[in-house]
Amino acid sequence: MRTFSYTLWVCTVLDIVVGHTLDASIDIIPSTPSTTPSVAEYISQSSLFDGPYVAGLNDTTSDWWYFDAISSDLNYTLVVTFFAATPDGLWPTTPDLGSATYLLLFLTLPDGTLLEGAAIGEELAIVTVEDGSSGVLGNTSNFWVGSPDMTSYEVSLNVPDIGLTGNISLQSTAPAHFPCTHATAAPGQRLNLVSEPTNLGWVNAIPDANATVSLDVNGTTVQFSGFGYHDQNWASQPVHSTANAWYWGHARLGPFSVVWFDIVSSDGTELVSSYLARDNQIISSTCGNATVRPVDGSAPFPPTPSSSVSEPPGFNITADIEGEGTLIMQIASNQVVLAVPGMVWRWTGEASGGFGNGTTWQGVAFYEQFTFDNS
Ligand SMILES: *[C@@H]1O[C@H](CO)[C@@H](O)[C@H](O)[C@H]1NC(C)=O
Ligand SMILES: *[C@@H]1O[C@H](CO)[C@@H](O)[C@H](O)[C@H]1NC(C)=O
Ligand SMILES: *[C@@H]1O[C@H](CO)[C@@H](O)[C@H](O)[C@H]1NC(C)=O
Ligand SMILES: *[C@@H]1O[C@H](CO)[C@@H](O)[C@H](O)[C@H]1NC(C)=O
Ligand SMILES: *[C@@H]1O[C@H](CO)[C@@H](O)[C@H](O)[C@H]1NC(C)=O
Ligand SMILES: *[C@@H]1O[C@H](CO)[C@@H](O)[C@H](O)[C@H]1NC(C)=O
Ligand SMILES: *[C@@H]1O[C@H](CO)[C@@H](O)[C@H](O)[C@H]1NC(C)=O
Ligand SMILES: *[C@@H]1O[C@H](CO)[C@@H](O)[C@H](O)[C@H]1NC(C)=O
Ligand SMILES: *[C@@H]1O[C@H](CO)[C@@H](O)[C@H](O)[C@H]1NC(C)=O
Repeated sequence: MRTFSYTLWVCTVLDIVVGHTLDASIDIIPSTPSTTPSVAEYISQSSLFDGPYVAGLNDTTSDWWYFDAISSDLNYTLVVTFFAATPDGLWPTTPDLGSATYLLLFLTLPDGTLLEGAAIGEELAIVTVEDGSSGVLGNTSNFWVGSPDMTSYEVSLNVPDIGLTGNISLQSTAPAHFPCTHATAAPGQRLNLVSEPTNLGWVNAIPDANATVSLDVNGTTVQFSGFGYHDQNWASQPVHSTANAWYWGHARLGPFSVVWFDIVSSDGTELVSSYLARDNQIISSTCGNATVRPVDGSAPFPPTPSSSVSEPPGFNITADIEGEGTLIMQIASNQVVLAVPGMVWRWTGEASGGFGNGTTWQGVAFYEQFTFDNS
């Protein structure tokens, strides 16, 4: 059965396609994974930035589109992820919903309540036009629509198990990037955070956005505005085997948008991606020249499943920015949004920092720590 929302998605996307006949792709990811090797791409092309990167998804590969929105006062957070993966392709504790195409949703409310919901689709259909993607979780009324230039994304939600319907609107305030450079760089850029054969693909269509969220949660209106973010990750082997640990996050600090991904691969190699933008222009998007560490040496680096049983109190992020100096930013955890002690921590936090020249800024951050046991 195709719902009205599905039809609305098709019409909206057709509208985009008609205006932009070049560089478009249509991909249907079935809910039953293939039993043969998938083909994953880790080198950039000239377009289709946010389109799928895994062809022939099987039960040890994955591709997912992630969206978040955080209220300016940190009282509300919303994370929505459209997954194409089986539990074996992700990490331990991934719920087995009996389908490789589904959505997970996490909403936190001012009183600390965490609502978790899921929706299962018969497939995940994705239309990519120029660089922006639009996807619909087949037979549910959950979809996203991205503009071809990735300046705006809208997510429409309908998650009956928690009685939630509504929308997220993201208006980008910071240009897209690959792990080690701008999205406008010539084709041939690396898309993996760690090298072959480990891999772990990442493209960040919306490093920072003005976000507006309007929801109906079981009869109660929930509305907030603040900042938001959207990226895509994929892997050609189970995600927990691609890395021993990572710190990932994004922040709005004064006039700056900051994104970091500090990953320790399964062979112990550390790779750091850092991104800084101001006034909708990239100041720095690079690999290297940055570190993410627990503040004051309060927890070991790299973190391990046993050390991450308790949460670090905050992080210290430093990045050498050519032409600007060294950015030193501290983030102090405000609220735990998601905790699987030993494996996943996700927080909202207060950010502060500057370039050590007398000017400091305050802001907000949304960030996480993952640790996996590959011993
Ligand atoms: C799934 O795809 C990956 C990547 O190509 C491959 O390593 C793995 O062997 C495949 N699994 C099966 C069952 O073919
Ligand atoms: C939101 O956060 C602010 C500052 O932390 C607090 O004063 C306010 O009461 C909160 N609003 C709601 C609706 O809880
Ligand atoms: C969509 O299809 C899946 C798989 O067949 C099913 O589990 C789910 O309940 C369906 N959802 C709706 C809203 O019909
Ligand atoms: C929704 O509200 C109804 C009526 O108040 C309540 O019985 C039900 O448990 C609520 N459902 C959720 C998921 O909160
Ligand atoms: C979602 O957005 C649509 C279109 O803007 C609007 O009609 C609808 O009422 C919104 N839903 C909620 C729950 O706010
Ligand atoms: C984001 O919000 C700020 C502050 O309200 C505003 O000045 C700016 O124009 C907005 N940017 C976009 C792309 O909507
Ligand atoms: C943060 O890192 C910088 C540079 O490595 C260092 O000078 C500073 O002491 C650190 N601060 C904390 C609180 O860890
Ligand atoms: C690191 O910073 C230096 C000095 O600003 C710069 O010359 C170099 O290109 C940067 N390296 C990377 C990988 O960004
Ligand atoms: C410090 O450096 C930052 C980044 O270059 C700049 O925006 C700020 O105006 C500087 N402050 C002073 C007091 O020079």
